[in-house]
This record gives sequence, C-alpha cells and structure tokens, in this order.
Amino acid sequence: MTATVRTPVSSLTGLPHWETPPADLAAATREIKAAIRARIAASGRTVEEVLAEIEAFIAAEVADIVATRERGEEVWPVIAYADIAAGTVTAEQLALVERRGCAVVRGHFERDQAEQWDRDIVDYVENNHFFETYTGPADDFFGTLEMSKPEIYPIYWSRAQMEARQHPRMAAVQRFLNQRFVSESDGHRWFEPDHDSLYPDRIRRRPPGADSGGLGSHLDPGTLDLWMAEGYQQHFRHLFAGDFVAYDPWDASYRTEASQYPGSTMCSAFRTFQGWTALSEMRNDQGVLHTVPIPRAMAYLMLRPLAEDVPEEDMCSVQLNRTFPVLPQWHDVLTDALSSIPSVQPGDSVWWHCDMVHAVAPVTDQQGWGNVMYIPAAPWCEKNAVYAASVREAFVAGRSPGDFPAEDYETAWPDRFAPADLNETGRRGLGL
Ligand SMILES: [Fe+2]
Repeated sequence: MTATVRTPVSSLTGLPHWETPPADLAAATREIKAAIRARIAASGRTVEEVLAEIEAFIAAEVADIVATRERGEEVWPVIAYADIAAGTVTAEQLALVERRGCAVVRGHFERDQAEQWDRDIVDYVENNHFFETYTGPADDFFGTLEMSKPEIYPIYWSRAQMEARQHPRMAAVQRFLNQRFVSESDGHRWFEPDHDSLYPDRIRRRPPGADSGGLGSHLDPGTLDLWMAEGYQQHFRHLFAGDFVAYDPWDASYRTEASQYPGSTMCSAFRTFQGWTALSEMRNDQGVLHTVPIPRAMAYLMLRPLAEDVPEEDMCSVQLNRTFPVLPQWHDVLTDALSSIPSVQPGDSVWWHCDMVHAVAPVTDQQGWGNVMYIPAAPWCEKNAVYAASVREAFVAGRSPGDFPAEDYETAWPDRFAPADLNETGRRGLGL
C-alpha cells in the first residue's frame, strides 16, 4: 500500500497551495492548472473566452502604443520632479502613469548632484582598489558577460548611493509612486506608502565603446510561487476566477504577505516600482531599458499557461530559480508594445511597475557612458521590515545585502557611508 500525500487546499482560496517549492513540480503544475481551470469554468466562461477578452484589451493597448510611437511622441510618461514636489502633477498625467505603468522623473536630482555622485563612485572604487580585487561576476544572472572590468558593480554602501537613498527628493518620488497603489483593503493595511525601506542594490557603469547583449524580456516578481503560494493566489484571486475586469494591477492586497520561493534572482522586498537614477546622459538607442507598458498584461502572463496549446506540465517556460521569461512562442501579442525609455539626463530617474515586462536592448560600440544607481520604491510593510533587519546588519558590517551574492567587497573600505551619516529618512528606512 502506498500512502497518498494530499496537497493542502487553502480555506481562503479553495485552491491547492504550496508554501515552499513542491517536491513533484510536474504533478503540482498539473494540479494547480486543473484547479484554476475549474474555478474559471465555474464562472460560466471558458479559459479560452477569458484569454480572448484579455487579448482584445492588449491588442487595443498595443495599437495605441504603436500609434504614439509613430506620431513621434514618447510612450513613457514624463513627469517633472518639480510637479511631484509641488503636488501639481495633473490628473491626465496620473491617468497615463496608471495606464502605462512606468514613468521618467525629469530633474529628480540636479544634474550637478548626479554628476558629482558619478565621480564619487569612481573615487570610492578606485581608492579602495576595487578593480584589482574584483574576482568576476558571482551572479548567474549577469554572469554570462565576460568582462575585464565589471559593468554591474557589487557595491552597496558608497556615500553616493546612501545619499541618494535617503535624500528628501528620493523620499518624495517614492511616496508619489507608492501612492499609485491601493495600500489598504479588507480592513488591512498592506504597506506604508510614506515610509520607504531603502532597498540597497548595485550600480551599473557601462563605458563608452561597450558591447552588450542586453537582457531578454522578462518579469521580476516571482516564478511558480505566483500561481502556487496562497498569498499570491489571494492577490490574483480575480484572475483565477476568470474576472479580468475586476483585476487591478494597482491593488497590492495580500502580496506583501505572500510566501516566495527562494532563488538567486529573488527580491526579498515588496517593491511597488523598480527604478534607477541616471548618473550619465543616455540616448534611447544606446542599449537602454524597454518595457511592455501595459500593467494589465500581467493577467495574460498569469492565465496564458492554462491555454490548450501549452503542455500540461509547462507554465509557459517559467521555472524555479530562473527569471520569468516572456517569449514570442507564448506571449507574441505583447511583442510590438516593447518601448524604450526616453533619452535621459544625469539626475533623471526611471520607474516601472513591479509586475511589468521589461528588457534591456543590446548595444554595440555604445556612445557615452551608461551609468545608473538602482534604487526602487519599496514601502515599509511586514515583509520589508524583516528584510530591513538583515540589511541593517549588512550595512553596519559593509557586507553585501542578503538578496545578493556574498561578495562583501566593502567590509574594510574606510570611506563607506557610516551609520552616523544617516538622516531621519535613512534611519527609518533601516528600521532604526
Ligand atoms: Fe529585471
């Protein structure tokens, strides 16, 4: 006799769920697909009908994006920092940010400030002999690039980065972005839009003349956990009931408390927007970031694996511990929407919704530098408070933060940003 191990069924969602990666992935994939299909069928429509509704919506968005591009207009909304600071962003601009899910903030920092930070970073790594001690990429995501000097510097605690993270202008923009989301629902406060957790990330310095293969279209929020963990099932409850109209990509309910499957590209924090701040001029044809600026396309990515042409044990090529790929084979309706950022100046910042498809274009013989500091919007919540505790320890010791390989280059660098240099925003962000 063999014992049958039954998958627990959530009393909250009615779906089978796995709070850690299932041991038998193929069986779990079949099980969750069948359960979501059954739930959609109970709504009175087929998966094919729901997918057709989403495809029609996406086709209209793609047509608008292509037409905007053909008129020579920017697809990405451009917001002046001055308007964010003064509270004078128009309703029309807000509606466009909501529609496109991304934005460039012009003049987020003064150009002089950004250029000073860029020089400070060079001094910081050179004074500390970073290039002599650098042992190569420890990260399997960017590790395919063979370089004598890195493009992505695994550096977290320079004065420049910390000054930018705790800057009142950064706090103002993060607050503005966090406020695009529903933070409170069902009698629960999911996150604090006015209080950011200062998620530490790396810098990129790509020199003139660089060749880069870019990064293919992908998503960052998770992998199979997006279908299999209970918290994400609650977050995507409307989609899993076949109700595309009720699905709101700006409602963060439940996801700040969802389990995540571990992986080397996992982000432990809840980010409303991913983002970076430009430290050099970057022309939009020099290997820059692109997005599919349709936040509701997440509905398609979540339900596409249920279609009949996808093998039963396949989630459109999404795998554990791999970046979520967006592929012409499965997601061709999105291809024509891929839109580059506008050209940016030092001090501009670039932001995109956490669930949005993005890519980095390839470039050969890059003109000018391509220098950025990665700084997202990661509002305070239970999940980010847990991560902030480990960040605090990494900061004090100068180690790499927990989401990144333990390269720990900066532990003995005397001029890294010190705890005494934190302002109130910095202390709050680290939970002090
Ligand atoms: Fe990404």
